[in-house]
Amino acid sequence: MIPNLLLETIIIFATGLVAGVLVTVLLRKKTPRVSRDAVRIDASRVAGRGAFALKPIREGDIVERCPALEVTDKDIGGELLNYVFYGSAENRRLVAMGYGMLFNHSPQPNVAYYREDGPTGAELIIYALRDIRKGEELYYNYGDDWWTTRGEKCE
Ligand SMILES: C[S@@+](CC[C@H](N)C(=O)[O-])C[C@H]1O[C@@H](n2cnc3c(N)ncnc32)[C@H](O)[C@@H]1O
Repeated sequence: MIPNLLLETIIIFATGLVAGVLVTVLLRKKTPRVSRDAVRIDASRVAGRGAFALKPIREGDIVERCPALEVTDKDIGGELLNYVFYGSAENRRLVAMGYGMLFNHSPQPNVAYYREDGPTGAELIIYALRDIRKGEELYYNYGDDWWTTRGEKCE
């Protein structure tokens, strides 16, 4: 009687343990890897300077975390307008530091970005949309509006 009770207790405990581990693994939020020192700035294939992969980068990896400063559109003028990102409202602009301002445009981008607001301020996170080879130029898609509102032509 006692050995049976012990066996049942062990089985219940082990089942609970396995279920707990499984739930933890399945529900764990997948955090992207950060590819450190992944970017260099060099002569672009499409315009002036551009950002290039210093090493192979895997799809989903964070390529660059740029500390960012949100300002009003009145703070931004002239050529600088072509270097900043949209902010949290129509009249707001996001100034991304680091190499964030130097990525060129492609309609077939290999990176994209999102904004993260942390306790120390905003960040612009640039991540890989697919596996990227060492030496490839890194492009995000500026969007059609970007080109039509400026009357510029993209290569
Ligand atoms: C954010 S900056 C990118 C860095 C810039 N190439 C540099 O040398 O400083 C945006 C400017 O780069 C140029 N640019 C970016 N992508 C381009 C493309 N696909 N074709 C032509 N010009 C592009 C445009 O002149 C745009 O105003």
